[in-house]
Amino acid sequence: MSSGPVSPHAGTHVPVLAEQVIHALAPVDGAVMVDGTYGGGGYARAALAVANIKLIAIDRDPEAMERAWAHAGKDPRLVPAPGRFGELEAIVRAAGHEQVDGVMLDLGVSSFQIDEAERGFSFMRDGPLDMRMGQRGPSAADAVNRLTEGELADIFHFLGEEPAARRIARFIVQRRRSKPFETTLDLADEIERSVGGRRGKPTHPATRSFQALRMWVNEETGELVRALAACERVLKPGGRLAIVTFHSIEDRIVKLFLRARSGNDPGASRHIPGLPHGAPPTFELLQRKATEPDASELAANPRARSARLRWALRTDAPPWNAAPEAGLRLPGLKQLEGAAQ
Ligand SMILES: C[S@@+](CC[C@H](N)C(=O)[O-])C[C@H]1O[C@@H](n2cnc3c(N)ncnc32)[C@H](O)[C@@H]1O
Repeated sequence: MSSGPVSPHAGTHVPVLAEQVIHALAPVDGAVMVDGTYGGGGYARAALAVANIKLIAIDRDPEAMERAWAHAGKDPRLVPAPGRFGELEAIVRAAGHEQVDGVMLDLGVSSFQIDEAERGFSFMRDGPLDMRMGQRGPSAADAVNRLTEGELADIFHFLGEEPAARRIARFIVQRRRSKPFETTLDLADEIERSVGGRRGKPTHPATRSFQALRMWVNEETGELVRALAACERVLKPGGRLAIVTFHSIEDRIVKLFLRARSGNDPGASRHIPGLPHGAPPTFELLQRKATEPDASELAANPRARSARLRWALRTDAPPWNAAPEAGLRLPGLKQLEGAAQ
């Protein structure tokens, strides 16, 4: 799984809401925990600093895993486990555990990934139109050069919440007839052209479309839904789940899942096929509202702007074993996830 040495261009990643995540997880000596998004290891180091735990460190990015292996060389309590957090249950079992005491997820991309032009995540740096965190499967170039106009418009609309989704998709499909897209700046320029330039707006016109493509390429909403269902199965009674999101769709998925599973959304459970009426809640919400970064964190790290932390305690009720997406009620996401397979 190695991709060679970590790029000399890689910078650092400032962890977001790390103190609040560790407070939510409350690690105690002897606990087994999972960091599903190791990244730069900021959360992992913070958790290992407060208690003598075993920490299974997952990341789908081979470069993040190189950092995890280097970290494990200095601290054997960290157990690197390359893979996707959507496969969390299988990864936990392969590490020799039926259940764990805590899971933390810090969604999205790391600064290492964004800052490296070669990874193709950024419209600010010219590089190949790639965006694959796991460095395998269809790339962003495959998406913009091969999907239909309607599929591209749906991706920009549902995943990017981009008001000009149809127009952008039309321009992309027209342009690719003469020359397929290969680089990030080429695509960013075409998107900018399609909406008539920047028009004095502070954010680049390609921001939402790039985020949407990244989410599609990495099948991010599907991964999240699978991870939530896996956490319901692998967390011990009293185990803790803490998730930081940076995107409103992801925050909505986490919120709706925890609301339904904690009995705070009785409407959701009525529509889940096969679920016995009145199934006991599998999670207890200790805080209804999401935690947001405070002013000092925002001043120090503008990337924290859209971060939301939600956390919950696993009850001793058996898992619902309902389809993971049941009760999420998110139109459009299902067919997009199917298209990404
Ligand atoms: C925001 S960074 C995590 C930063 C980390 N908490 C820290 O403090 O350094 C997100 C990381 O999650 C990884 N990631 C995203 N989706 C993933 C998935 N489905 N499975 C495993 N890793 C994933 C990315 O490769 C990236 O390294």
